[in-house]
Amino acid sequence: MDLYEYQARDLFEAHGVPVLAGIVAQTPEEAKAAAEKIGGVTVVKAQVKVGGRGKAGGVKVAKTADEAYEHAKAILGMDIKGHTVHQVMIAQGADIAEEYYFSVLLDRANRTYLAMCSVEGGMEIEQLAVERPEALAKVPVSALTGIDQATAEKIVAEANFPEELRSQVAEVLVKLWGVFEKEDATLVEVNPLVKTGDGKILALDGKVTLDDNAEFRQEGHAALVDKRTEDPLEAKAKENDLNYVKLDGQVGIIGNGAGLVMSTLDVVAYAGEKHGNVKPANFLDIGGGASAEVMANGLDVILNDEQVKSVFVNVFGGITSCDAVANGIVKALEILGDKATKPLVVRLDGNNVEEGRRILDEANHPLVTLATTMDEGADKAAELANK
Ligand SMILES: Nc1ncnc2c1ncn2[C@@H]1O[C@H](COP(=O)(O)OP(=O)(O)OP(=O)(O)O)[C@@H](O)[C@H]1O
Ligand SMILES: [Mg+2]
Repeated sequence: MDLYEYQARDLFEAHGVPVLAGIVAQTPEEAKAAAEKIGGVTVVKAQVKVGGRGKAGGVKVAKTADEAYEHAKAILGMDIKGHTVHQVMIAQGADIAEEYYFSVLLDRANRTYLAMCSVEGGMEIEQLAVERPEALAKVPVSALTGIDQATAEKIVAEANFPEELRSQVAEVLVKLWGVFEKEDATLVEVNPLVKTGDGKILALDGKVTLDDNAEFRQEGHAALVDKRTEDPLEAKAKENDLNYVKLDGQVGIIGNGAGLVMSTLDVVAYAGEKHGNVKPANFLDIGGGASAEVMANGLDVILNDEQVKSVFVNVFGGITSCDAVANGIVKALEILGDKATKPLVVRLDGNNVEEGRRILDEANHPLVTLATTMDEGADKAAELANK
């Protein structure tokens, strides 16, 4: 899960990273009140989970609370790269002398963590990374030590920070590692990390991505989810513990095992080319032990997707035998009753397949078509979705 800047700021503060005051606001009135509370110069900042807000006009300096009101009025409701601004953060204005860049992230390709740091931070960092990559220090970070004082000093030295700043910046990097480690993040990025006129180091912007796999041990993280921007189908699937990802096509997919579902997506996308270019509508892995309830929950999520025109159930009977899956489908259709409205193509194979097919034949449900192979099932489902 990606966090908003104001949420990242709060986490930074909780872990001792130096930040300035920041108050989130949903209306111009709230923005004005926040600016009055902070006092002095403030910065009105669009809260959207995408970079480049400043360049898009989503970051504006306000000298007075009335100006903060006007900026908030202009920024709220704005569209930044497809993200609607629902909230702004009113940040205390900083007297910036220098802008630096720092990030630490999970480097999957190299199976380690990676810190990146530059004395030339700010809004042009992407350009810098492309045009002068040598100005961006890249230091691998061991999971065993993390960014301890020694590693932090190595990072600031490689980034060419002036001698007199190194220990102060290093101290902040150690704190930022604390955020990364203790919050189970996969990314912590600060751009800009600034030096103020009076020589203080501050994190002025924060991007944090939290690792959803650590949800079970991070109780506080559930409160950070923004229900407003969550896909309703994904939210429903999550409530039912389903491994569901919404895609953009017309053929709903249910399978057991991530590998089988992934290849089903490919086969359906390929078959769709012959049928008006229909595409898979989702990824849904119901895992082993596909009970009637899990099948019903899965079908319920998929049938609620308005774009879905047909569903392809592709199950390989392994630990769960095909007869259990077939019974699951029949019962699921009973549970759903009138809610089941779209044609279902079912392909079963593997353990106890004859019995599974017999059960579906016997149930003779008007919406269900049986297919013998994956290709045939994908073709049939694509054809039905194109009707
Ligand atoms: N509290 C502040 N006080 C003064 N200036 C600020 C403040 N916050 C941001 N700025 C200025 O605005 C610029 C853009 O802000 P910020 O980095 O937060 O947004 P952004 O454009 O979305 O960044 P990114 O491209 O990293 O996503 C900063 O580089 C900084 O110069
Ligand atoms: Mg920034």
